[in-house]
Amino acid sequence: GAPVEVDISKLEEGQMVRVEWRGKPVWVVRRSDAVLKELGGHDGQLRDPSSAEPQQPEYAQNQFRSVKPEIFLAVGICTHLGCSPTYLPNTFSEQVSGISAGFFCPCHGSKFDMAGRVFAGVPAPLNLVVPPHTFLDDNTILVG
Ligand code: FES
Repeated sequence: GAPVEVDISKLEEGQMVRVEWRGKPVWVVRRSDAVLKELGGHDGQLRDPSSAEPQQPEYAQNQFRSVKPEIFLAVGICTHLGCSPTYLPNTFSEQVSGISAGFFCPCHGSKFDMAGRVFAGVPAPLNLVVPPHTFLDDNTILVG
């Protein structure tokens, strides 16, 4: 599949844009400072907090799983059986107490934080996949 260009110039904090790459949904989310801060606080609840499993490119193997902290990309497919999780920018605390935003898979209840890291105790075995991507400039990402 050909690489896909994503324009994020109009992407506001908390918003997600969805694109298709190789027939898969790819999410691009602009995370707020509050969300970035929150990512540091719940490692103990995650199955693989440091993303030791190879689910991301090397340049995204940092605490935010991204090239730039504020811009997060993930393949929007649950690592359990392939449903597409729902982005909950404001109501995720109903799923995991104390955590404001995340992704919830309606099929069997898997839960992922705002870096796509899976919470312990759900069916999904792995963190969401970070697709290969590069920034062509501040507002343009090439996925693939
Ligand atoms: Fe997402 Fe089963 S496919 S929890």
